[in-house]
Amino acid sequence: MERILVTGGLGQIGSELVVALRQRCGAGNVVTSDIRMPPSERLAEEQLFELVDCTNRDQLQEVVVRHRIDTIFHLAALLSAVAEDKPQVAWEINMGGLYRVLEVARRHGCAVFHPSSIGAFGDSTPALDTPQDTIQRPSTMYGVTKVAGELLCDYYYSRFGVDARGVRFPGLISWVAPPGGGTTDYAVEMFYQALRYQHYTCFLEPDTRLDMMYMPDAVKACIDVMAADPSRLVHRNAFNITAMNFTPEELAAAIRKHVPDFVIEYRVDPVRQAIASSWPDRLDDAAARQEWDWNPEFDLDTMTRDMLDNLQRKLGAPPSQSSS
Ligand code: SER
Repeated sequence: MERILVTGGLGQIGSELVVALRQRCGAGNVVTSDIRMPPSERLAEEQLFELVDCTNRDQLQEVVVRHRIDTIFHLAALLSAVAEDKPQVAWEINMGGLYRVLEVARRHGCAVFHPSSIGAFGDSTPALDTPQDTIQRPSTMYGVTKVAGELLCDYYYSRFGVDARGVRFPGLISWVAPPGGGTTDYAVEMFYQALRYQHYTCFLEPDTRLDMMYMPDAVKACIDVMAADPSRLVHRNAFNITAMNFTPEELAAAIRKHVPDFVIEYRVDPVRQAIASSWPDRLDDAAARQEWDWNPEFDLDTMTRDMLDNLQRKLGAPPSQSSS
């Protein structure tokens, strides 16, 4: 992991992963790529930026060769709600992009990180303490692309020796860059609305329990799984990981400790509710803990405090009570 390319580098994960990778590997060794140009305020800090459509193999290959890339963090993908709205486009981007990344990696000897998701599970998966190896029959196009992606990554490892590794991310909570088109986005939206309006209308039912993680832990997971000693890895694609699990009602209560006037209402979106209901309540991440020492730092309370502090600074909102 010396010369790195991050696809989808301007997205929710990429925006923070690139910063951490630059600290670890040197700013001149991390190339950010995306299908769109960075916003003008970020342009200056993105000296190593490439416009790349990952479904275009030649474009991808040209960048990998020119920058002598040895590791690709392939983050470009559509999330669950958008993928359900545009299933054909989701297949094209999620599978077409991954296939071309793996092919370029095979030809040029790159390692590949590919994020899977709690979306790789479905109604027939055990919902509590979901095992590492279990039933994976998702009912969404997003889930289909995640399961197929896990299999394809394992295939490229066993057939061609491509060092492909991944994690099954839960919902990711962050304040630097917004998520786009996911089902777990409600958790991020709730923080913004709590600070702006002390009010949020949630699109999931109050008792919908899902695994979640704060972005600093997610970034740590990406880097740690790629840096792990390969001789310890029994699994590769992809490891269950989680940091906390909660319902909208429980998140609202945690926010209310700092924003006492915060009110939550519910107007349920049947499409996103069906997606969330098909996902596990709580993953068992023992394999990640055993094989590469996964150990998240943030729980619901510490994440909530840190999110509110950072968002207040970002939005210029009045300080919440008892948040210091
Ligand atoms: N956060 C994703 C989504 O909601 C799940 O991996 O689509």
